[in-house]
This record gives sequence, C-alpha cells and structure tokens, in this order.
Amino acid sequence: MTRERIVTPQPTTPEDEAFSWALRPRRLSEYIGQQKLVEKLSLSIQAANHRQEPLEHILFYGPAGLGKTTLAHIIANEMGTQLITTTGPSLTKPGDLMGILTNLRTGDVLFVDEIHRMNAAVEEFLYPAIEDFCVDFLVDSGPHSRLVKFKLERFTLIGATTRAGLLTAPLRDRFGMMHHLDFYPNEDLTAIVKRSAGLLQLKIDNDAAPEVARRSRGTPRIANRLLRRVRDFCQVKADGNVTSELARQALDLEGVDIIGLDDLDRNYLRIIIQHYGGGPVGIEALAATLNEEADTLEDVVEPYLLKIGFLQRTRKGRMVSNLGFAHLGFNMPPHRQKELF
Ligand code: ADE
Repeated sequence: MTRERIVTPQPTTPEDEAFSWALRPRRLSEYIGQQKLVEKLSLSIQAANHRQEPLEHILFYGPAGLGKTTLAHIIANEMGTQLITTTGPSLTKPGDLMGILTNLRTGDVLFVDEIHRMNAAVEEFLYPAIEDFCVDFLVDSGPHSRLVKFKLERFTLIGATTRAGLLTAPLRDRFGMMHHLDFYPNEDLTAIVKRSAGLLQLKIDNDAAPEVARRSRGTPRIANRLLRRVRDFCQVKADGNVTSELARQALDLEGVDIIGLDDLDRNYLRIIIQHYGGGPVGIEALAATLNEEADTLEDVVEPYLLKIGFLQRTRKGRMVSNLGFAHLGFNMPPHRQKELF
C-alpha cells in the first residue's frame, strides 16, 4: 500500500514537461547557479572518474523545482552511465526495488525522487543494497520460503527530497554526500531565462529577462514556465519579440504579481490575515479553509513565503509577518504592531 499520495509541485501539462526537458542543462558546465554545490560535485565526479569508481551515494534536498532531478541526469551523463529513475511512493514493496536493483550495471545511477515517502519495508531492504551492494530476498512462501542473498553491481543512489527532516537517521547516514539546493538569486534566474530564450530562438530584450526572473520565486522550473507563457503572449499580441512591457502584461494576465506570488500564495496569506487575525494558525486548519492538501501548502507554497520573510512558522502555528500584511495591503492588527518581524 502506498503510504502517501504524490504531491505535484507545480501545475504542469505534458507540453510544459516537454518544454522543461528541452531546456534542462545536460552537463555540469551548462549549469547556472548553485556554485558551491556544482564545484563540490564536479570535484567528486572528477575524482571518481579518475579512480574509475562509481560515485558515492548522494542526497539532494531543498524546495521543488530547483534542479534535483536535473542534477541526477547531469551526474549520470558526466559519469558516462545509465540513469534509472523511480519515486519513493511508487516502491510499494521490496519486490519493486528488487527488479530495479538486480538490473543495475556497475556505475549506474539510481535516482529516487521523494525518497522520504518510501515505506519502512522498502527502506530496510535498501540498506544492505547501498551499504554492501547485496540484498537478502525472500523466495517462495510458507514452509518452502528461504532467504537468498543476491550480489549487486556497485551503483550510485541519488535520493531527492523536499523534506530532509522526514528522512530516518539510518537512511540519511548512508549517503556519502548531502547537498542542499537553495532558491536562486535573480541574477542566476536572469541568466537561466536568457539561456532558455536562446535555446528557443526567442528574441528577448535585455530588461525583459530580469522581469521574468523577478517573478519566478527563485525557481528555474517556474522561470521556464513563465517564459513559455510570455512567449505565447508576445506571439499573439505582438511580433513575437519579448519586451519588458509585454512580459509584464503577460505575467499580470497569468496572475503572477511583481514579486512572483500567484493566486494560491495570496489566498494563503489572505486567509491567515482575514480568518485568523494574521495567525498563529495550524497547517491543518489552513488546509481545510483553503480546500488544499496540507502537503501542497508545506511543499509548494510555504518555502518561498518563509524565504522572503512573509511567513513565520512558530510552535503555535503559521503567522504572517508585517511584510506579508503590507504586500497584500492590510494593516497589522493593533495587538501585533509592536512586532519587529
Ligand atoms: N534550466 C533549468 N535550470 C537550469 C540551470 N540551473 N542552469 C541552466 N539552465 C537551467
């Protein structure tokens, strides 16, 4: 039985997916941003390649859309090996993993997205596979059942999670490297928008790329999605070339405001302000009021609001800061006006 449902980080269509794949960097040298991480990764890859050894197991953690999957693909490319991808919730029993593991070749990369959603039985089955490259598999049932040891090829596990805190300590400890991905600064997002526009043979003014970047919530996946909306708009309303004014109009139409908040972000803040006096309020009460899954709020909405200081998470619940009140055009209630945040 799957433990939880899969959270879709951002609404995507098959076209969006294809578009985003076409724009993803394939080599580390094409990757923009996350400099420290890229430097450390490059070093590990060069060293492993030099020793002709598989790379150590890696955990990528951080908000959705920042490049965890892209990096897994890049690593397999750089190591010259195959990438096999799966997700934590789709591995419902050890047998699901057995088929994948026994087909891995030396140096292959197994990418497990949402690794924190793997169930306990699958997780325990994975331990000897990543530690000693062997698994004990139960064959037959009843009185004929027996444990058979299978040897595996040396492979690299890459786990990705938006919730490192939900990983069990034994699993976390088995990764040789842990890399955190943070939101991208506007300069990096601007460079990403320009690179994507180039790949799409889209003419974009110098001041239009920062306009798209500024509204992308620090997230390359969103930047590329917004660029696609802007491209459609400029094609229909003008001659196809992207100016900053057209980009602004297109993104206003999309409901994405000047700092990148969309309808769900604004509703989230508004509900806390109008229904709960600015907070504190628990996530479950918020989810019920908004008619959204608590997981979606925690994975998709909150990380960026926390990052920009619009939201605080306290033991008593979520609270909107004075910046959040101001952005939505509300005054802080008198009892909270003394607060500094
Ligand atoms: N497209 C999406 N993310 C990217 C990145 N980090 N660098 C270059 N292109 C990208």
